[in-house]
Amino acid sequence: MTEANKVPVLTIDGPSGSGKGTVGQLLAQRLGWHFLDSGALYRALGVAADRAQVDLGNKAALARLAMDMDIRFTLGTDGDCVDVMLNGEEVGNVLRTEESGRRASILAAIPDVRRALLQKQHSFRQLPGLVADGRDMGSTVFPDALLKIYLTASPEVRAARRYKQLKEKGFDVNLHRLLDEIRERDARDAEREASPLKPAHDACILDTSQLDISGVVEHVQGLLQQRRLR
Ligand code: DC
Repeated sequence: MTEANKVPVLTIDGPSGSGKGTVGQLLAQRLGWHFLDSGALYRALGVAADRAQVDLGNKAALARLAMDMDIRFTLGTDGDCVDVMLNGEEVGNVLRTEESGRRASILAAIPDVRRALLQKQHSFRQLPGLVADGRDMGSTVFPDALLKIYLTASPEVRAARRYKQLKEKGFDVNLHRLLDEIRERDARDAEREASPLKPAHDACILDTSQLDISGVVEHVQGLLQQRRLR
């Protein structure tokens, strides 16, 4: 076992709007563990490509950009949100738009891009532990994780959650358009060949359609406790 493999990892995967980001951040705070929002890496690469005027069809240039991009996450001044510095520029707000999610989903289908981001993701595995959120955290990036959770919810529930979130942040959004975008992104993420969106074979699957965030957090904490006592 290498030093890095001794660091416990909790993976939380699932489609967009399943609650994995909020649940993951809360669990990381409660446990005092590091947090990896892997979707932000793909989103940031989309922004980096835009800044460098690299076309989303140029796979080789995107993979190079992924290798070279300097990305840092720091806890925001209010202690709650995360600031994202991309090549020295604060891009947190740009990353949260639907357009950046759509671009991320397109370039996330490129195998060389996924390979280039693998090492960056592994570097987050540090003591005392890591909560990693994404699509393939349990299936590909951290296959030896202590506990793997796969959160899901119906597209309608997820669109309604996104709508509320974005409205609260002051974005002008349309529920029907959000639902279409969620369906389109689900299909692209699930149908791609490289690390498609699907639960790891040993993941605990949790449908959050009828659960609130604190219910999910409690449940996952209970499962984690059981694993650590084994
Ligand atoms: O979690 P998110 O919505 O921020 O992710 C944005 C896109 O990035 C998502 O549509 C697919 C891609 N992604 C991925 O392919 N693998 C990950 N581990 C995380 C995100």
